[in-house]
Amino acid sequence: MSPGRTLLTQAQIRARVRQLGSSITRHYRRPSLRGQSPLFLGVMNGALFFLADLLRAVDLDSEISCVRLASYTGTQSTRQLRGLEAMGDSYKGRHVVIVDDIFDTGHTLAALAARLHKLGAADVKCCVLLEKQRRHEVAIKPDWVGFKIPDEFVVGYGLDYNGRYRDLKQIRVLETPAV
Ligand code: IMP
Ligand code: MG
Repeated sequence: MSPGRTLLTQAQIRARVRQLGSSITRHYRRPSLRGQSPLFLGVMNGALFFLADLLRAVDLDSEISCVRLASYTGTQSTRQLRGLEAMGDSYKGRHVVIVDDIFDTGHTLAALAARLHKLGAADVKCCVLLEKQRRHEVAIKPDWVGFKIPDEFVVGYGLDYNGRYRDLKQIRVLETPAV
């Protein structure tokens, strides 16, 4: 398995992240939300680059935190989320924006949002760089989506295959070698 064709270039990602940053900024500057400093919660490790770039495109008084969650083995979702118990920060009364690399089955977002509500968050929104065009298995939807992509396994810009290829600057489709 190795990275194949490029789905999104560095320039495309950069331009879209800038737009997402402006859109989030506009949302939290609305008069009804003024005075709230949102807490951006990055889902590690996949959201590492996206979180860093997005936050530099957002112009708000905000805070950043991370949670380490995993559900995938190879290219398959186990639908079992590991890491939710370890969430230590105080979320009581906070406006939280979950930042993740990709919305696939949706189980990560649904479980994390439910956990944040349980911990007392006042509001939970979600921004993902990618959304796979497939049948999502949960009712919840991300509030901000960078790109809708075909249902293929992708790597790069933080996304990995068993820990590899996160450092690629583009988003590329993982390819099985021809035999
Ligand atoms: P979900 O819970 O199925 O929505 O999956 C979300 C998580 O699965 C993401 O945060 C990624 O870490 C991982 N994931 C899903 N699809 C891909 C992919 O195509 N490449 C790399 N990681 C993926
Ligand atoms: Mg992830």
